[in-house]
Amino acid sequence: MERTFIAIKPDGVQRGLVGEIIGRFEKKGFTLVGLKALSVSRELAEQHYGVHKDKPFFAGLVDFITSGPVVAMVWEGDGVIASARKLIGATNPLNAEPGTIRGDFGANIGRNIIHGSDAPETAQTEIALWFTDAELVSWQPTIMPWIHE
Ligand code: RTP
Ligand code: MG
Repeated sequence: MERTFIAIKPDGVQRGLVGEIIGRFEKKGFTLVGLKALSVSRELAEQHYGVHKDKPFFAGLVDFITSGPVVAMVWEGDGVIASARKLIGATNPLNAEPGTIRGDFGANIGRNIIHGSDAPETAQTEIALWFTDAELVSWQPTIMPWIHE
């Protein structure tokens, strides 16, 4: 079963959107297999966003991600990587469709509330970067036959 890494950024936590966001993933039918709140170190932030290290926004992005609590999660389900990106919406919340998390709650590209892995390879790398195996729980919700044929 596919897994993806999702992080509620400091703006999402500060604005009290943790429950709303977790609820959207739960209601969609995905399974929560990892969850923790943490202060992100600069090393972790720089590794996580390493692909953007030469971009002009990199320093500000690292400052922002390390500026407050982050809620890190791993969600599981068929097609969860691409589907989570749809639930999250476009990178710039001003372009994100209403009904998406960024479309409903965001108004600035530098405060876009949530991160989601963008492909199977990045999902695997990010899950291993943020979580140990012991922090992830494999389980089958009893409601699964009503979510998945
Ligand atoms: P994320 O990695 O956070 O899920 O976001 P994303 O895939 O939708 O967008 P990505 O291109 O990976 O950009 C990573 C984060 O960098 C910030 N950003 N700022 N000021 C800018 O032009 C700019 N562009 C990107 C955003 O916080 C974005 O989520
Ligand atoms: Mg990205």
